[in-house]
Amino acid sequence: MADLSTNYLGLNLKSPLIVGSCGLTSSIENVKLMEKNGAGAVVLKSIFEEEILLSLHKKAGDASKDKLLYYEYSETYDYLDVHTRNEELENYLGFIREIKKEVLIPVIASINCVTNSEWTDFALKIQEAGADALELNLFFNPAGFQKKDVEKLSVQIVDKIMKTVTIPVSVKLSSNYSNLGHTIREISNTGVQGIVLFNRFFSVDFDLDKLSVISSDIYSSPGDFTKPLRWTALLADNIECNIAASGGVHSGETALKQILAGADTVQVVSVLYKNGIDHLSILLNEMDKWIEEKGFNSVTQIKGMMSNKNVKNPEVFERMQFMRYYGKLFD
Ligand SMILES: Cc1cc2nc3c(=O)[nH]c(=O)nc-3n(C[C@H](O)[C@H](O)[C@H](O)COP(=O)(O)O)c2cc1C
Repeated sequence: MADLSTNYLGLNLKSPLIVGSCGLTSSIENVKLMEKNGAGAVVLKSIFEEEILLSLHKKAGDASKDKLLYYEYSETYDYLDVHTRNEELENYLGFIREIKKEVLIPVIASINCVTNSEWTDFALKIQEAGADALELNLFFNPAGFQKKDVEKLSVQIVDKIMKTVTIPVSVKLSSNYSNLGHTIREISNTGVQGIVLFNRFFSVDFDLDKLSVISSDIYSSPGDFTKPLRWTALLADNIECNIAASGGVHSGETALKQILAGADTVQVVSVLYKNGIDHLSILLNEMDKWIEEKGFNSVTQIKGMMSNKNVKNPEVFERMQFMRYYGKLFD
């Protein structure tokens, strides 16, 4: 049996598979099952900045003073579930306290945020409740036509959180930033311990019979892993913090590819919705089998073997266009 343990955000994980933020991690029974089936850690469902502010201000009117805030919140976001009840925050903290009594694996809390306003104090409460780390789920509407320096704002948000909490912080990004590589490096320069590449958002589809706009599949497909793979390989030797690859990981083989590219951990969500939580152990078995068959003995041994600096044709990670001589790169 290969050694699947790894280190992420300064935490020792028994496996590199983390259950990403989603509704599945909102139940104690589920999280216990995740631990039993080998999850290295879990990320709780995000609590939304809006919920925190509504609770702070007690009424929506106060929270909407900030026009930017209000604009962002008017977004259609597939898993945005707006609660205005104040108990919501206490429930979130209570859940962290409870789950910490039930499992030994690290529990990472998650906040979806769009501004660097006063909600950041809630991060301290998350820390006091016992979360092992905090994942910031940054979200900005890339379709907004107003000029907005979201890259700068992202760095400011992370910077502010880094000054607020002492637990490790990771930042979950969308791939919709301008100058993505530079932006990620700027975020990593705040001293943040991890970057999650990438978040997945609501996307639309058309119903041709009804001529109406509908939600596309909320779950990812196995082919979706390539964008995180490219960016993980590109960034692994260029940023100081850990990388968690996320998106389209539906098999042990795909998880291995992300680790070979340089990811410290791999987050999975859709594959567990589709196949059940116990599918985690199948993914881990697939990983274990490949590592052994190839004559390696641990995850740390293979990490980054195919990152930008370790492949013989790194230019392929930067290539965007299909060109006639494209095939030559693979000779
Ligand atoms: C039903 C569902 C709920 C989700 N809720 C959240 C959330 O609250 N916060 C968050 O950061 N990501 C959320 N996500 C995104 C996942 O954490 C993950 O980034 C995305 O699904 C890509 O991973 P996958 O291909 O393994 O599904 C959710 C995804 C799904 C399918």
